Amino acid sequence: MTSRIVVLISGSGTNLQAIIDACESADYPGEVVGVVSNKNDAYGLIRAQEANIETVALSHKEFESRATYDQALIAKIDMFTPDVIVLAGFMRILTPDFVQHYQGKLLNIHPSLLPKYQGLNTHQRAIDSGDKEHGVSVHFVTEELDGGPVILQAKVPVFDGDSSDDLAARVHEQEHRVYPLVVKWLCQKRLSMKIEGENEYAILDKCTLPASGYANDE
Ligand code: GAR
Repeated sequence: MTSRIVVLISGSGTNLQAIIDACESADYPGEVVGVVSNKNDAYGLIRAQEANIETVALSHKEFESRATYDQALIAKIDMFTPDVIVLAGFMRILTPDFVQHYQGKLLNIHPSLLPKYQGLNTHQRAIDSGDKEHGVSVHFVTEELDGGPVILQAKVPVFDGDSSDDLAARVHEQEHRVYPLVVKWLCQKRLSMKIEGENEYAILDKCTLPASGYANDE
């Protein structure tokens, strides 16, 4: 059965586009049924409309607290009865209630080799630290910001003289490759999250993944 995917965005939506494109292939096990943005002018909303996908713009500015916004967001998302919720450049900190509501169904992509560089400005921070490699992580979302179990990472080299934009472009290319793949695994129910005491783990095909996620390319 085809899984119902809702994608949350705040900006350009190139990762959303990569997932929409992947869904066009007949054997892809998911379909993007809704796109929700906290920014009314996010270009990703136009991408979704061009693909005939229903959109919702729900500006956080109209809410007095993070908690009331997240409750309204849950109500909008749940109208799509999703199986999988994908954060694709959704630049908001989520409340524990939101995260718990979608536990095990909520994915994020973060532009660094987690646990390095949680938060913002990851590309510049990698350059400033003199790193020779950088990359992207796809992970389950937990209550810790950018802290949930990693499912898959992709690495890119950092070259002398790279600007933050050079590096961002190199990372973006990898994002568009890995995110549709991990979303596919979750749609196929090959992927789940296990919680043991204080620790969470990503499980793929019944194997617990190491801290840096799945090790091989598919
Ligand atoms: C991506 O690079 C994604 O990794 C990042 O936002 C960008 C969105 O690009 N996400 C985060 O920084 C989350 N902490 P896109 O709108 O073109 O997909």
